[in-house]
Amino acid sequence: MARGRAGVASARVSIVERLRAAGCVFAEDEARLLTAAADAPADLAALVARRVAGEPLEHLLGWAEFCGLRIAVDPGVFVPRRRTALLVREAVTLLAGRPSPPTVVDMCCGSGALAAAVAAAAGPVTVHATDADPAAVRCARRNLAPAGGHVHQGDLDAPLPESLRGRVDVMVANVPYVPTAALAHLPPEARDHEPRAALDGGADGLDVLRRVAAAAPTWLAPGGHLLVETSDRQAPRPPPPSPPPASPRAWSPTTPWPPPPWSAPAARPRPNRPPGRGVRRGGGPWTSRCRRPGRSRGRTAGCRWSAGGRPRRGTAGRA
Ligand SMILES: C[S@@+](CC[C@H](N)C(=O)[O-])C[C@H]1O[C@@H](n2cnc3c(N)ncnc32)[C@H](O)[C@@H]1O
Repeated sequence: MARGRAGVASARVSIVERLRAAGCVFAEDEARLLTAAADAPADLAALVARRVAGEPLEHLLGWAEFCGLRIAVDPGVFVPRRRTALLVREAVTLLAGRPSPPTVVDMCCGSGALAAAVAAAAGPVTVHATDADPAAVRCARRNLAPAGGHVHQGDLDAPLPESLRGRVDVMVANVPYVPTAALAHLPPEARDHEPRAALDGGADGLDVLRRVAAAAPTWLAPGGHLLVETSDRQAPRPPPPSPPPASPRAWSPTTPWPPPPWSAPAARPRPNRPPGRGVRRGGGPWTSRCRRPGRSRGRTAGCRWSAGGRPRRGTAGRA
């Protein structure tokens, strides 16, 4: 019996060492999670081997923690990032002032993490979500079932029911925003295990965001909001000193976004985190940093547009 316990302990130490050698910063936590997920020693060995080979921990576990929820994430589906909780917090704040039950749309929903978290935190809401990827849609349907959410498969807003036009209180959209040339610099976890369509935002990273920004106004209710995630380099910048544009941060569907000048950023990989704690090996889909007067660097940028209003920016905790 004593030998059995010693054997289990030494097997655990060996797993931690292998994970640490593979670059897993929180190897103890990962070893505990993988051990809990395995039904038998052979399963555990296989999970550890896959993790050491670079598969995202969340894909091995089948879930990711997001805003205190356990979100189902199948292999091949984008793993929700902690930084995206900014959009959830902003959405919940905005929904508090809307007539009940408000309507929320999660565009490019992936696993449906944002919509699930908003529904869990905001009370009764009518939830619709869309994604082009059938695997993501299957996941989102599971995650949004408790909220009675409707998940539609198709291109951006195309599959939304026409009855929603002009009735959406908050639209959240964490869409692909990595510039194509930067994809090669992503950490292998993202590059090799998340679909390119979930990451690639085109030449400047803003192809999908521009389309979302153009489509949103016809869905938003008066006073409704669109909340998106970008890197700070992609978000509108303060006006240049000369010549001063009339309203450089104002945006309408017919104006180019973001306003020039803008240049494609270089990738700056940084650690990401495992479900619920610590730092996950590798970085996020794109290294998002926000630099604002009076704020330290290293935060994630989010933007918000009110229907008929101007863009505003917020920051999330460390990505
Ligand atoms: C960066 S992932 C974000 C997923 C989710 N919003 C999140 O934060 O976890 C982007 C998602 O957009 C979806 N997507 C990309 N292009 C799309 C399009 N044209 N129409 C619908 N979904 C799209 C991808 O399948 C992917 O699930």
